[in-house]
Amino acid sequence: MGRANKVVLAYSGGVDTSVCIPYLKEEWGVQEVITLAADLGQGEELGPIKQKALDSGAAASLVEDGREVFVTDYVFPSIQANALYENRYPLSTALARPLIAKMLVEAAEKYGADAVAHGCTGKGNDQVRFDVGIMALNPNLQVLAPAREWGMSREETIAYGEKFGIPTPVKKSSPYSIDRNLLGRSIEAGPLEDPMTEPPEEIFAMTTALAETPNDPEYVEIGFEKGLPVSLNGQALSPIELITQLNEKAGRHGVGRIDMIENRVVGIKSREIYEAPALLVLVHAHRDLESLTLTADVTQYKRGIEETYANLVYQGLWYSPLKAALDAFIKETQGAVNGVVRVKFYKGNATIVGRRSNNSIYSPDLATYTSDDQFDHKAAEGFIYIWGLPTRVWAEKNK
Ligand code: ARG
Repeated sequence: MGRANKVVLAYSGGVDTSVCIPYLKEEWGVQEVITLAADLGQGEELGPIKQKALDSGAAASLVEDGREVFVTDYVFPSIQANALYENRYPLSTALARPLIAKMLVEAAEKYGADAVAHGCTGKGNDQVRFDVGIMALNPNLQVLAPAREWGMSREETIAYGEKFGIPTPVKKSSPYSIDRNLLGRSIEAGPLEDPMTEPPEEIFAMTTALAETPNDPEYVEIGFEKGLPVSLNGQALSPIELITQLNEKAGRHGVGRIDMIENRVVGIKSREIYEAPALLVLVHAHRDLESLTLTADVTQYKRGIEETYANLVYQGLWYSPLKAALDAFIKETQGAVNGVVRVKFYKGNATIVGRRSNNSIYSPDLATYTSDDQFDHKAAEGFIYIWGLPTRVWAEKNK
């Protein structure tokens, strides 16, 4: 009782976040619950969600379009960082959380709330991302997480909600837990909890089954400026449009599925299936363009930065000082990352088949094996003498 007077609650329209509304009021003595539904392209109708929050007892129900900021300020920097958690997961869910945290904090400040709340349980990564994001942005705000404490089963949660007029889910609820936004879908639980079980085709919504993909390949040319994707097939597109169109094109060819056992922040291994067609293609295309435009040492040094960056994003440290420092490094490297990458979609593959750039430091005169060759072969001998000197001296002593 008496934990907070006015609370801004992250709201999705689902049973758990709906039940949070009466729970906060009845069990924890909160006077006023303001819900905030962030539109990050989850494709849900937000009109009904707005009303549902009010029906569930919210004093006010906010719906905010965060899609543009999401892509520009969260997704694009991550593409410049070539961020793939454990070398595979492009962070499609993880990237949304720091933005939602920011929207919650801004609403709390605007409406004079003393706490923010979310419906995450204690087992996942998202609670970490919300809690740490919120404390980084406003250390004076309390964070309330009822589902981490209430100890109710799914059935008990539904029954609790019914007492307060929250309707039982109409569809027999799916065994899967699904998170989705503009970037893709994350699917876990149900039969997927057995790591040996092949993901059933029915769980996918953005990617075509291989058996049904087109029999002809499709090519797309992605244009980058300063490491940011700006065009498809020569047509300039807004960030949202670009992601949307690329999701459609790549997804149609079955590109963008990931099946992995990942290491969560809280120490659990979990089996997650992702589909994130555009984001995966963009990371691979961007990395390829860097190979044409960045020096060897920057490219190789940046790999380590990228891995740390992906870990920070996954682990909820978006607003940390180390993340800000890595951002500065990455930004410094992107000035030359301009050009076009040609990608071929075919039967689940996105193969990079070409790249060009006005900033290319690939030199045909140096690389060629024809008579145009400008490389000074004789200079190699002296270079190798000095390069190998320490090894030779060591060998003379020890062999
Ligand atoms: N494992 C992913 C992450 O931590 C997705 C989490 C949400 N997944 C879900 N199926 N609800 O970023």
